[in-house]
Amino acid sequence: MMSTASTKPVCDYEGSRYQSEFWDKGGREYEDRVERIALRHLLPRSGALCLEIGAGAGRLTGELARFERVALLDYSRTQLQQAQERLGRDARFIYVAADVYRLPFVAGLFDAALMVRVVHHLVDPPAALAGIRAALRPRGALVLEFANKRNAKAIMRYWLGRQSWSPFSPEPVEFARLNFDFHPRSMRRWLREAGFTIGQQRSLSHFRLPILKRVVPAAWLAGADAALQPTSDRWQLTPSVMLRADVHPNGPVAAAQAFFRCPRCAGTELTETGSELACPNCGRVCVVKDGIYDFKEPLLSREEA
Ligand SMILES: C[S@@+](CC[C@H](N)C(=O)[O-])C[C@H]1O[C@@H](n2cnc3c(N)ncnc32)[C@H](O)[C@@H]1O
Repeated sequence: MMSTASTKPVCDYEGSRYQSEFWDKGGREYEDRVERIALRHLLPRSGALCLEIGAGAGRLTGELARFERVALLDYSRTQLQQAQERLGRDARFIYVAADVYRLPFVAGLFDAALMVRVVHHLVDPPAALAGIRAALRPRGALVLEFANKRNAKAIMRYWLGRQSWSPFSPEPVEFARLNFDFHPRSMRRWLREAGFTIGQQRSLSHFRLPILKRVVPAAWLAGADAALQPTSDRWQLTPSVMLRADVHPNGPVAAAQAFFRCPRCAGTELTETGSELACPNCGRVCVVKDGIYDFKEPLLSREEA
């Protein structure tokens, strides 16, 4: 499903049963385990506030217990509702429906950000990374997972003439509508251009083969994968890569009470009443409904709200 309400096309998960179909019933315990292992190594040890981008149904949010509070951001309201069912309306969690290309947060707010299985849906990763970088504090960190086009299977298929696109060329490959694989060098370049320094990298899912997954227990496979993940600092031949990207020590820090900003005009003086956040600068209104701050386009004018 594609939505065009955003500034750029968005892979729309509204109404999707992604969590139950892909994860709970999808035979992906191994992939789930290896992602958790990697992000435990890559995330900062602690922090006040973390942003999870494209949080979906909150599959990985439990891994963010080291942060005092977590903002779960997703374009899909129904994904956030599923996350609420899993995590509850605890004050520790802030649910935000918004577009990653128009983050509704003041600059220098978050100690860390996590984005897993999301950038592969983005037509413009550099634009998204620049926005995430701005929302992070000095010394903040982004933990990012991306799909790697230069993986061993794609290389074999290319050499055997079964695949037309080259896994070695820098441009993304769109293998299905709004589903992209990226060259690791391109991803690292975009991150550097957005102002990040590349930290530790981890290769994930070395054993993503149906036959292996059928005969070897997921915990054993994940253990073997964990031993191989650090090889990513030298080469990346797996279908998935996770890395940490750090923010420079100098830069803006959000003022004590500041949190949201208008995603349209970037005004920071939003006024909150019970069920809405209004921007006096451009007159747009964000509705707060059932515990979800909804910044999705079309934003309502004050009269419509
Ligand atoms: C494949 S799911 C991954 C969910 C979760 N991170 C996980 O690993 O289980 C991708 C998520 O990204 C969200 N998403 C896609 N494009 C987005 C955008 N432009 N802004 C915000 N969220 C987006 C989708 O709504 C969906 O929940």
